[in-house]
Amino acid sequence: MKTPPLCPAPDALDVFRAEGDLNLSPQRRVWAAEHIGPATQALLDQDAGHFLHQSLSTPCLNVLRRAEGAWIEDIDGRRYLDFHGNCVHQVGFAHPKVVAAVKHQLDELCFCPRRYTCEPAIELGAKLTSLAPGNLNRVLLAPGGTTAIGMALKLARVATGRFKFVSLWDSFHGASLDAVSIGGEAAFRQGVGPLLPGCEHVPPAEPMRCPFRCGKVCNLTCADYLAYVLEKEGDVAAVVAETVRNTPFIPPPEYWQRIRAACDKHGTLLILDEIPIGLGRSGKLFAFEHYGVVPDMVVLGKGLGGGIFPLAALLTNEALDVAGQMSLGHYTHEKNPVACAAALATLQVIEEENLVERAREMGAYALEKMRELATRHPLIADVRGLGLLLGIELAVTLPDGQRQPAIAQAEQVMYEALKRGLNFKVTMGNVLTLTPALVITREEMDQALAILDESLRLVGTPTTV
Ligand SMILES: Cc1ncc(COP(=O)(O)O)c(C=O)c1O
Repeated sequence: MKTPPLCPAPDALDVFRAEGDLNLSPQRRVWAAEHIGPATQALLDQDAGHFLHQSLSTPCLNVLRRAEGAWIEDIDGRRYLDFHGNCVHQVGFAHPKVVAAVKHQLDELCFCPRRYTCEPAIELGAKLTSLAPGNLNRVLLAPGGTTAIGMALKLARVATGRFKFVSLWDSFHGASLDAVSIGGEAAFRQGVGPLLPGCEHVPPAEPMRCPFRCGKVCNLTCADYLAYVLEKEGDVAAVVAETVRNTPFIPPPEYWQRIRAACDKHGTLLILDEIPIGLGRSGKLFAFEHYGVVPDMVVLGKGLGGGIFPLAALLTNEALDVAGQMSLGHYTHEKNPVACAAALATLQVIEEENLVERAREMGAYALEKMRELATRHPLIADVRGLGLLLGIELAVTLPDGQRQPAIAQAEQVMYEALKRGLNFKVTMGNVLTLTPALVITREEMDQALAILDESLRLVGTPTTV
């Protein structure tokens, strides 16, 4: 029997919840009233008085004073295992080797104007291209993921002489206008006027919400549809997608092989965005290694700067070194020596501490425990994971048997967990998205799972909304 797709939830805000829980919700206000003391509130008010407000950040949740290893700590001294970390904490926060490399580099050379290069940048270029699979032997650095995505889009246009892109609904590639044109989240793209022309979206490999109603397991109709769009359009410059959506949606093994073949058939480039999931989080250094394909371009970011410096990298091959007459990026901090030193130290720590294997093993352990949680909590509709990219999807059953995303309950579980010292975000409204530091210990993982268990128990097991 086919699993019915989740039917939409009624709240008007829900369409904006794809990337994370919102700071506009009534539950946020209730939590804040109970947990934020006057000193913290005064700082939050000052912050909200200075910064522009946005739905996923300002006004902020709390004020931090420390971040170390797998933990963050607020100014009242409350510690939280950070299973969110904006995915910058592959090596944990403030890893001593990364901090030392940054301090050392600050004393040596702290900036490099764009007409020059510097040894840390050259060394990083060599390191990244030596680590990348296949023929990915050219790199361009940028001061953030969004800007690196923008460079990839420009390069794809120049290299192919085409301007169209196909990307996935519900995806995120950054907040700038070019990135939201290929992104698929309402909170970033609705109400900002015309976006880039020629950007088509197709459904992601996400059986729980699949418009093709493929059932609980993706049957690749979505990949075939993407191939169909490439064929019908005929002149698409690139398919751009997150290899694994950081919700996570985990496409089946053949998904990328089928799309890679369709790209090759139609002269379309394949650009994979591994900004939050690269550098070992998935249990491979590059997530596309799980799929036996090599993209034409891959974008890394977030944790590349060791969770200290903003840094991203576009990796591609020499056949696409075809835009020498123009500036693809040329960002001021393109080859910032301190950022490059942080990245080199980060890559060294990932190797020395075997963080890729660790993510694979710890992820498998956590997934097994999450499956066990699913047997005891009817609110859990699905658990999934790839390395330390883990998700728990919550749903309630309506009287007519339909399953509806448990949006209010997911938020409640999040705040109950926060009370007990576990921080994570909720994506798509109802997916508890768990992305701990790769240095997390077994004891810390057990502690986090126990908090989740207790929070799910407290929120209860409703069968109706
Ligand atoms: C998949 C993905 N792509 C791109 C970006 C944008 O990166 P940045 O915030 O460094 O510009 C993000 C950030 O969350 C992301 O998750």
